[in-house]
Amino acid sequence: MAEAKKQNVQQTLPLLALKNSALFPGLLMPLSVGRPASVAAVEAALGTEDKELVVVAQRDANADRPEAADLYTVGTRASIRRANRQRTDQIDIMVLGIERVVIVKVEENEYLKARVTSLPLPDDSSRELEALSLSLAELGSKFVGLAQGGTAPQEVARMFASQEDPLQLAFMIASLMNLDAAKEQALLETPTRLEGLRMVHGWLSHEVDVLEIRNKIANEAREEMSKEQKDYILRQQKKAIEQELGEKSPDQAEVEELRERLAKAELPEDVRKEAEREMARLEKMPSMQPEHSVIRTWLEYVLELPWIKRSDDNLDLKRARQVLDEDHFGIGKVKDRIIEQLAVLKLNPEAKAPILCFVGAPGVGKTSLGQSIARALGRKFERMSLGGMHDEAELRGHRRTYIGALPGRLIQAMRRAGFANPVLMLDEVDKLGRDFRGDPASALLEVLDPEQNKAFRDNYLDLPFDLSKALFITTANSLDPIPAPLLDRMEILQLSGYSEEEKTQIARRYLIPRQLKQAGLTAEQCVVDDEALKKLIESYTREAGVRRLEQVLARVIRKVAVRFAEGNTESVCITKEEVPELLGPEAILPEEARKELPPGVATGLAWTETGGDVLYIEAALLPQGKDLTITGQLGEVMQESAKTARSYLWSHASYFGLQASEFLNAGLHIHVPAGAIPKDGPSAGVTMTTALASLYSGLPMRNDTAMTGEVTLTGLVLPIGGVKEKVLAARRGGLKRVILPRGNQKDLRDLPEEVRKEMEFVFADRVADVLTAALPGLAVAAPPAKAA
Ligand SMILES: Nc1ncnc2c1ncn2[C@@H]1O[C@H](COP(=O)(O)OP(=O)(O)OP(=O)(O)O)[C@@H](O)[C@H]1O
Ligand SMILES: [Mg+2]
Repeated sequence: MAEAKKQNVQQTLPLLALKNSALFPGLLMPLSVGRPASVAAVEAALGTEDKELVVVAQRDANADRPEAADLYTVGTRASIRRANRQRTDQIDIMVLGIERVVIVKVEENEYLKARVTSLPLPDDSSRELEALSLSLAELGSKFVGLAQGGTAPQEVARMFASQEDPLQLAFMIASLMNLDAAKEQALLETPTRLEGLRMVHGWLSHEVDVLEIRNKIANEAREEMSKEQKDYILRQQKKAIEQELGEKSPDQAEVEELRERLAKAELPEDVRKEAEREMARLEKMPSMQPEHSVIRTWLEYVLELPWIKRSDDNLDLKRARQVLDEDHFGIGKVKDRIIEQLAVLKLNPEAKAPILCFVGAPGVGKTSLGQSIARALGRKFERMSLGGMHDEAELRGHRRTYIGALPGRLIQAMRRAGFANPVLMLDEVDKLGRDFRGDPASALLEVLDPEQNKAFRDNYLDLPFDLSKALFITTANSLDPIPAPLLDRMEILQLSGYSEEEKTQIARRYLIPRQLKQAGLTAEQCVVDDEALKKLIESYTREAGVRRLEQVLARVIRKVAVRFAEGNTESVCITKEEVPELLGPEAILPEEARKELPPGVATGLAWTETGGDVLYIEAALLPQGKDLTITGQLGEVMQESAKTARSYLWSHASYFGLQASEFLNAGLHIHVPAGAIPKDGPSAGVTMTTALASLYSGLPMRNDTAMTGEVTLTGLVLPIGGVKEKVLAARRGGLKRVILPRGNQKDLRDLPEEVRKEMEFVFADRVADVLTAALPGLAVAAPPAKAA
């Protein structure tokens, strides 16, 4: 207490102003003194025995040469415990706070001097103070621990707990907390100990909270750092910065746009669920991850597909008929069938659409008819070619996990269509391939089965897609290569070739106007006369369809267009004579049927993918020879026809007045010229039989006649296909008479009127009917053999 008394007197001491902190009694503080006035004050203090000075905080840290008014009035008397002069203008010192003082007066000189009187620390005590003190000690060690990023060392906790004076504890903790000068000053000036402790406790709890959160964040960052690579953290920071600046990365914007589109999209329930799931994955995934773009592409695909959206059908039957007629000449049967289908759709919009299959030679209008149907219905038209498709994955897509995987062609076509109910044309089903990569035909089976295509599964989408609303139309040049199960699912509509007259009509009404328009000419500027057109059809094209004819017309018309472009103004009429000038010499010599038919040669008719053809079968005896030789690249069925024909005639030799011994004693050679072209099918049966009958009887066949039909071993003549093409081929060849199976009589309805009038038809039930019509002079025994 003696000391306290002594301090009650006023003292004058050098004053050291601190820019941003206060010094607490009982605590050491290192100071670096640099301001000239401060250095002078410290030097003055060092020159005294007690080395004491007064340390006071500045109210304003910016005041470089503080005066009395810039200083707080409560400061701390302190003694310098150590001093170290680094340079002439700087002294590093360690000061120990001794007691609080009130500055009574400040004297300004070379340095500041303060007259001070002591302000003893309050001496209150209470339960609350004790409790607060304990809590503060605890919180204090927690704080030290957190500040070091772990737990506080034992000594610290012990040191805090061992502090007897609660206010001294508060000072100690406050000095560790990096408080601003105002707070420290407030603590220094505290009127009661309780008040001082409360202040520190408040600041400390806040500080501890902040440190806890900061540590948590730091820990998380550290954990993530160990999981992902560094660039992830960089991205996170970038993202945070972008968010801060109100900017978004393009990737993020894209993902958000997808999210919006997903919200608006019309999707079936199960598809939406799956899409939402993928969306959620996408949103969580860093965009640098390769899978990010895989999911994004997939989602984009899903959102672009017409899952539900349908275009409105135009079911006005009159208009539909008109559209079909506008686009195509003839093919009435097919048009009727299409109108029927529209009528069904009109009555029952949910009716399962049949799968139509248009079969016919190239250029007969299969594809363009499909387009026309779409136009009539007001639906989108999409076409995909199956020709040469080997790989089932082409149709069904690859699993998403493959790099660069895409949906199959069907789903792609649906996406292009943009509606769930397009007219979808699958071109060239007959040209489907198959190999080790799988059988696309089996995938087609599923697509074309109305029971299964409600939930078609594409490998890429891996979601069921409803194809049942699409109107499928397939096309083929020939039915033979189409697997039977596939054929079963389709309704076959035959488009036969066109006769010369029909071609003329098509050219006049469709092809010429279209080509004129393309060339930018009017109908008056360029006229193709009838004879020229006939020449174009007969001498420059040879086809069942009209594609080549259209190309030839296009060439002619283009050449005329050039004349107009070069200044010609008069209208041009293309005549028969002008055609070779424009197109060069005729490309195809008119087909002339053989005039000379020696015994053993018969005229048949063949159906080919490009239309019909006249075909000759030649037979020769090989005296002393043996067996049957067949040449001309004949298929199995045709070879069997040859054997059947021979066996039939042999077994009925006496009936037809033939020598049975000739069959026995001589070999036989059958040849079908144009051997480079493979031929097959049963319809040459009658021709084989006729050639052999002519050979064995020595009677030549009539040179104005051609024939087609299948023959059984018992001599029945069975109907065959392709009648129209075959008859037209006979007519082109200059033949006048055609022998047909009775069963094909109905097919003559397909023939144009002129053709039916011009040609003579013989209908045969049995081989005898064919032979008597073909071989004049053949004596057939009066009572026909019993059906044997
Ligand atoms: N009856 C017709 N009336 C008018 N134009 C026709 C007719 N038939 C075919 N055409 C025209 O002939 C051209 C060829 O027809 P398209 O391409 O539809 O043939 P295709 O049967 O699909 O042949 P491919 O089997 O080679 O695919 C088209 O320009 C088409 O408009
Ligand atoms: Mg086509």
